[in-house]
Amino acid sequence: MKAVIIEGYGGKEQLQYTDRNMPVLKDNDVLIEIEATSVNPVDWKIREGYLKEKIPYDFPVTLGLDAAGTIKETGKKVQKFQVGDKVFTRPDITRNGTYAEYVAVDEGLVVKKPDNLSMEEAASIPLVGLTAWQCLVDFAGIKEGDKVLVHAGSGGVGSFAIQLAKSFGAWVATTCSTDNVEFVQSLGADKVIDYRSENFSETLQDMDIVFDTLGGDIQQQSYNVLKEKGCLVSIAMPPDQDVAEEYNIKAGYVFLEPDGEQLAKIGEKLENETIRPVVGTVMDLKDIKKAHELSETHHAKGKIVLKVK
Ligand SMILES: NC(=O)c1ccc[n+]([C@@H]2O[C@H](COP(=O)([O-])OP(=O)(O)OC[C@H]3O[C@@H](n4cnc5c(N)ncnc54)[C@H](OP(=O)(O)O)[C@@H]3O)[C@@H](O)[C@H]2O)c1
Repeated sequence: MKAVIIEGYGGKEQLQYTDRNMPVLKDNDVLIEIEATSVNPVDWKIREGYLKEKIPYDFPVTLGLDAAGTIKETGKKVQKFQVGDKVFTRPDITRNGTYAEYVAVDEGLVVKKPDNLSMEEAASIPLVGLTAWQCLVDFAGIKEGDKVLVHAGSGGVGSFAIQLAKSFGAWVATTCSTDNVEFVQSLGADKVIDYRSENFSETLQDMDIVFDTLGGDIQQQSYNVLKEKGCLVSIAMPPDQDVAEEYNIKAGYVFLEPDGEQLAKIGEKLENETIRPVVGTVMDLKDIKKAHELSETHHAKGKIVLKVK
């Protein structure tokens, strides 16, 4: 099968569109023929070697952590799925990646694709959707009426998180650059802060939750806008617990775990159109170097989706 692999850590030149052996199916796995996958910043972070302490890989590595496609084969113990089912998934990060024509995934991580989504739209969801869910729902315990700040609302995670927070009845503020103000308003943001002309920490106060997707100074300044006993949840860097104690807030870092049950709940919100997918750019898998280049600018709008088939 065709796949994009790396044979060592490094820059974009490591990405090779080449032939690779078909994945080997375990008893609980389904074999998915992938129609679309997506690019997440973690893909180029893995490629660069930033996660090598956390996840020890054996080369060659097939990158990619989102897939939408059709089941072609089922392992002996598979119960939920049949050949021909159309599905989407965020597979286990330590196994075969999704920049490929086929992937083998444990059925517990696979969910039927909502009928109203194209394969490209479905491939844009699993990683960002699960990230936003685990931060806002599991860690922060979001509830109706909460005031939530989502940093970088026009990005992959942010564009999903705004909609997820709105679906729980929250009031949502977000940050983005001038060009994306109308776009994040269209996702439901109640207050938009253009970070090029305004500092969010001077505009906002008494927030219940801050979702930090950026880290650094942005995380430091985020303490100032939270109310006492509020919650700072970061996917960018672990918050300093001494500072969190000083401000009397709950603070933590989340690294997403794949979860089929949560993805099914996300699927329901997509099916009833409470949340819509935000596909900003579609490219062919062969154009992977350009796709990584765009992601590495830190200014991609919505998701970058790769057509495999
Ligand atoms: N821990 C985890 O499990 C986990 C999971 C998913 C993602 N992440 C990490 O979370 C980060 C965000 O992921 P992503 O997929 O959303 O990335 P992304 O799609 O590449 O984010 C790009 C967006 O960031 C915005 N942005 C850049 N600088 C900004 C600033 N100073 N203020 C506000 N917005 C800014 C850009 O908007 P403008 O063009 O308008 O500036 C752009 O739309 C990445 O570092 C990723 O690796 C971690």
